[in-house]
Amino acid sequence: MPTPLTRTLNLNKASRTVQVADDGEQLLYVLRNQLGQHGPRFGCGVSQCGACTVLVDGQIRRSCVAPLRTIPEGANVETLDGLGTPEDPHPLQKAFTDEQAGQCAYCINGIIMGALGWLRQRQAAGTTTAPTEEEIAAFLSGEAPGSTLNYLCRCGAQ
Ligand code: FES
Ligand code: FES
Repeated sequence: MPTPLTRTLNLNKASRTVQVADDGEQLLYVLRNQLGQHGPRFGCGVSQCGACTVLVDGQIRRSCVAPLRTIPEGANVETLDGLGTPEDPHPLQKAFTDEQAGQCAYCINGIIMGALGWLRQRQAAGTTTAPTEEEIAAFLSGEAPGSTLNYLCRCGAQ
């Protein structure tokens, strides 16, 4: 029997309240269908690809496997939509653009949001130097310290 749920989230620093008929509704669908977010994307739906990645209270989360009931009331949710604008991109977005890192760009949401969470974790742990190519490769394959999630790029740009 589905359980209805109302949650107030701090989405990209704005308070937003959502209602779902089933508290098992995944955060990805809440973000896309109710909250107008276009950054997080459906890729696999089973935590394998990273296209749906967002940050919840600073933690890297796969929103396709994050039922709304597991997201705390008042949680800080960060999506690519809140990161920057075409006129004023976040430094990470600018780096991806400058390096022409995307091809079709379907996977880029996940890689940028995951990278943001990972880089913040590195910084919080006292690492202030830029990651090496080997560390970036380890991050993408889910083998970096503190980041065990991998990222898939289907069209092959990464
Ligand atoms: S859609 Fe969530 S990990 Fe692939
Ligand atoms: S750039 Fe196309 S899926 Fe990654």
